[in-house]
Amino acid sequence: MGTSKLDTTRRATGDFLRLEHVSLMGRRVFIRADFNVPLTPDGRVADDTRIRATLPGIRQCLDAGATVMVTSHLGRPKEGALGAEDSLAPVAECLSQLLGRTVPLVRDWIDGDFPMRAGELVLLENCRGNPGEKADDPVLAARIASWIDVYVNEAFGTAHRKECTLHALALTAPVACAGPLLAAELDALGRALAQPARPLVAVVGGSKVSTKLTILESLADQVDALVVGGGIANTFLAARGLSVGTSLHEPDLLDSAREIELRLAARGARLWLPEDVVVADRFSADAQVEVRSACDVQPEQMILDIGPRAQAGLGEVLANAGTIVWNGPVGVFELAPFAAGTKALAAAVAASPAYSIAGGGDTLAAIAAFRVGKRIDYISTGGGAFLEFLEGRELPAVGALRARTRAAGPRAVPVPAYEHEAQPG
Ligand code: 3PG
Ligand code: MG
Repeated sequence: MGTSKLDTTRRATGDFLRLEHVSLMGRRVFIRADFNVPLTPDGRVADDTRIRATLPGIRQCLDAGATVMVTSHLGRPKEGALGAEDSLAPVAECLSQLLGRTVPLVRDWIDGDFPMRAGELVLLENCRGNPGEKADDPVLAARIASWIDVYVNEAFGTAHRKECTLHALALTAPVACAGPLLAAELDALGRALAQPARPLVAVVGGSKVSTKLTILESLADQVDALVVGGGIANTFLAARGLSVGTSLHEPDLLDSAREIELRLAARGARLWLPEDVVVADRFSADAQVEVRSACDVQPEQMILDIGPRAQAGLGEVLANAGTIVWNGPVGVFELAPFAAGTKALAAAVAASPAYSIAGGGDTLAAIAAFRVGKRIDYISTGGGAFLEFLEGRELPAVGALRARTRAAGPRAVPVPAYEHEAQPG
């Protein structure tokens, strides 16, 4: 039977216990979520996407008769010294509103010494405040594991971190499984990337090559076209010997950029760079703006967006794609004079018949700003985790869930029929 597609999907996404496989009635269920959400200056949740994405898993546990505790990190606080600004209080407030029930916030919870009624839902304060969290401390994990029945990882956005409530606790808890959000993210991304419909086009924008170097290198070995935008594109333009004026770029990464372009060319794949650009005399919404050929940027000018010819060219590349993976803007879209490129990109991704996947904070903001969310096939809650998944790295939190299943033996997980098929090779 020709099952290579299913087999590859299985390799990418299977092999861990899922929430629906676990009996929850009367159990104390500990959910590690990713509620690392932006806050307004007055301390309210500015974007509740990640919180809403976690509601189905929470409801599933409550409906099944579990007593539910949810925790998350917020920001990068100092362990043992949580300040008011690190508190999950705004998240508790938001959760209470979304669920229509009061969700109490519990401060000191490592040893489970807090009152809880059966069937209740509580939020456990910022887990990154616990000493040992960041170091993935097994002793901290054992303390938490001693009073919970089921551990659920629902934190796809943080699955690339090897921290206690993501990794050591998953190895130690009596039962450890993936929640529906984590499982859906892994399924959707794994399915799209295991055997992508071709051409596979990746759009990687943003300010710096340095923060995305490994993903660019790995994409260079996978994609049919690599579209770069923002400061990243400037570095690639400079690597081709073009002047980028005062634009943000990284002169010490020109060799890396050339190497990536060569890697693509060696596979017959294409590096897409803008043929024209929007330049300004300074980084400001009221700067003097003009469109220039990318070969003709003046020494005192900075590139802040792609030009109209580039927009049209990019539209064509995306219209002909089979699969699109999008992370990062192609211009400074927060400022009106430099928003057109990213707006055109968002519209082209939305209009393309390709299967489209988007992820990352800036990308989600662009999708919201240009209202194309409904026409993108899959929007990931992950930023860094999304990129590391694209690189093909095993996410530590997922690795821990898989390790549990391997240790328990092949029959521990009731899985769909196709997952029992032999693996190739
Ligand atoms: C994110 O928002 O990218 C995740 O929640 C991970 O947060 P971190 O980068 O602080 O680990
Ligand atoms: Mg981050």
